Amino acid sequence: MKLVLATSNKGKVREIKALCEDFEIIPYSELIDEFEIVEDGDDFKENALIKARAVFKALNDENVIVLADDSGISVDILDGKPGIYSARYAGAGATDKDNLHKLIDAIKEKNVKSSSAHYTAAIAIVTKESQYSVHGWMHGEVITKALGDKGFGYDPMFIPLGYDKTLGQLDDETKKRLSHRSKALNLAKIILQTL
Ligand code: IMP
Repeated sequence: MKLVLATSNKGKVREIKALCEDFEIIPYSELIDEFEIVEDGDDFKENALIKARAVFKALNDENVIVLADDSGISVDILDGKPGIYSARYAGAGATDKDNLHKLIDAIKEKNVKSSSAHYTAAIAIVTKESQYSVHGWMHGEVITKALGDKGFGYDPMFIPLGYDKTLGQLDDETKKRLSHRSKALNLAKIILQTL
């Protein structure tokens, strides 16, 4: 089954491809020019649906299935920030590194060395006649240091529950087993198999 991804985030594309080996995954930017999608929903689910619907419309092909992931990290000591603003926490056009260091600084300002936190992934699937959404979560803690270079985004500062290393230090297989994205994608695959 051919699945068009409504993202060109390299980290997400790599992980989704590794988790959906039975499907042919094509980032939408390989089919049409990338365009700006205004993610003005109030939660991850709304933003995932906004992205999937926008790409489905732009592709102008009724036979495609579009899958979008909207995800982010919520830190308890920061009252759930950056949440849905994770990709632009350090401002529009911020890099993953800018966002990571802004989050480290924000936690340090609270005079703590760590805080409980969780990742959320909402996956939306849009076809000609249907729209679905599912979620996955990964709980753990964030620390005020960046350790390791695996994964992407906030992974070097996130320690999954039950581990003593960050996702930047743990291997890809461990993240694949634990992650918010893999939990949501396992549910999404059940939907895809019924389509
Ligand atoms: P989105 O592309 O608008 O969904 O933004 C997602 C942002 O959340 C990314 O840019 C990352 O900063 C962060 N994020 C989401 N999932 C992960 C993950 O698995 N690891 C690290 N950061 C993530």
